[in-house]
Amino acid sequence: NKALKIAVIPGDGIGPEVIDEGVKVLKKMTEGSDFYFEFTYFPWGCEYYAKNGKMMADDGIEQLKAFDAIYLGAVGYPGVPDHISLWDLLLKIRKEFDQYVNIRPITLLQGAPCPLQEAKRDNIDMLFIRENSEGEYAGAGDWLFRGKPEEVVLQTGVFSRKGTERIIRYAFETARKLNKSLTSISKGNALNYSMVFWDQVFEEVSREYPDVQTYSYLVDAASMFMIMQPERFEVVVTSNLFGDILTDLGAALAGGLGLAAGANINPERTYPSMFEPIHGSAPDIAGKGLANPLAAMWSASQMLDFFGYEQRGRMVLDAIEQLLTEKDTLTPDMGGSASTSEVGDRMLQLLTDMLHQASISDN
Ligand code: NAD
Ligand code: IPM
Ligand code: MN
Repeated sequence: NKALKIAVIPGDGIGPEVIDEGVKVLKKMTEGSDFYFEFTYFPWGCEYYAKNGKMMADDGIEQLKAFDAIYLGAVGYPGVPDHISLWDLLLKIRKEFDQYVNIRPITLLQGAPCPLQEAKRDNIDMLFIRENSEGEYAGAGDWLFRGKPEEVVLQTGVFSRKGTERIIRYAFETARKLNKSLTSISKGNALNYSMVFWDQVFEEVSREYPDVQTYSYLVDAASMFMIMQPERFEVVVTSNLFGDILTDLGAALAGGLGLAAGANINPERTYPSMFEPIHGSAPDIAGKGLANPLAAMWSASQMLDFFGYEQRGRMVLDAIEQLLTEKDTLTPDMGGSASTSEVGDRMLQLLTDMLHQASISDN
């Protein structure tokens, strides 16, 4: 049996609560397979910072290199400034491991709550591909004349040829493989350097993919269309910041943050990829057993896909869909009264049944 080494970083707030349930699902999904998971836990995060004055071990990145993937809960908690906790752990991992593709599915599963009245599963089925290594998150800038009347702050977006081309090309490849259209979301009218360049690269790369239907929207209009006509969007490619914002908006359409999953991929597999729900540490509900673990489980399903166990990944999604349809084991964010671990227990029952019935051919 093949060992897959997973670094688990539960992190802050509800991070550990949802990751506990996600790990149970991952373990379950190895039954009857040719692989097993070896989990190693790293206690990094804001509590670690309080004790050690840093978010992770000095050689933390080095340590993580030995793993096949990273499974992360959430980072950030009151007491540590957000820009420090995030830049020294989550964003650091994304950057150091060149996880330049952030895949965030916005799919309305059967039974998931949706604020749109006539929404159907077929209407809301988007795959966001967010640039995850540079752009507005380049971390470049300056703070001049701090505290003086002439104070000026610069936050510079960095859009390199390499960085822009590779994410757009990845999106075209994905759209081609799925036989879906590709929409680019940008803002070339106001951002007269970065987004003009983005649009130009999108146009250039599109010529290599004449078989892929393309659309291009300005981000403001796109936000409206995501609500009014979500069926317009299939595969979507966008910049780091726009992708951050639009996927929380998308999460709202597809069941809320408690159900929204993401994968930070290093496509070359030079470094480990990282799987995490897109929500944060939710300090308002942390420690109360109220957190919805389904987003963490969906991310676990993305991890199974990533390792090539797509039937098993699909099964986790089917079980989530079954649980959403039953409606009696949901957390409060979805209108239920179940606890985080009750959702986990029900998921394990559903998966036990599904694993018994299915014949899986792992390859
Ligand atoms: P958040 O996603 O933590 O919470 C927003 C709202 O959604 C809250 O009301 C919360 O209770 C609810 N929510 C989120 N996840 C939920 C779940 N699984 N089940 C039920 N309800 C859920 O965003 P925030 O409050 O803006 O940020 C809190 C902290 O998390 C900040 O420090 C922020 O920087 C950090 N953050 C981290 C990540 C990450 O690690 N990937 C992502 C986003 C925010
Ligand atoms: C996310 C988060 C992060 C981001 C924050 C915590 C830095 O909001 O993963 O969506 O903006 O990428
Ligand atoms: Mn976000």
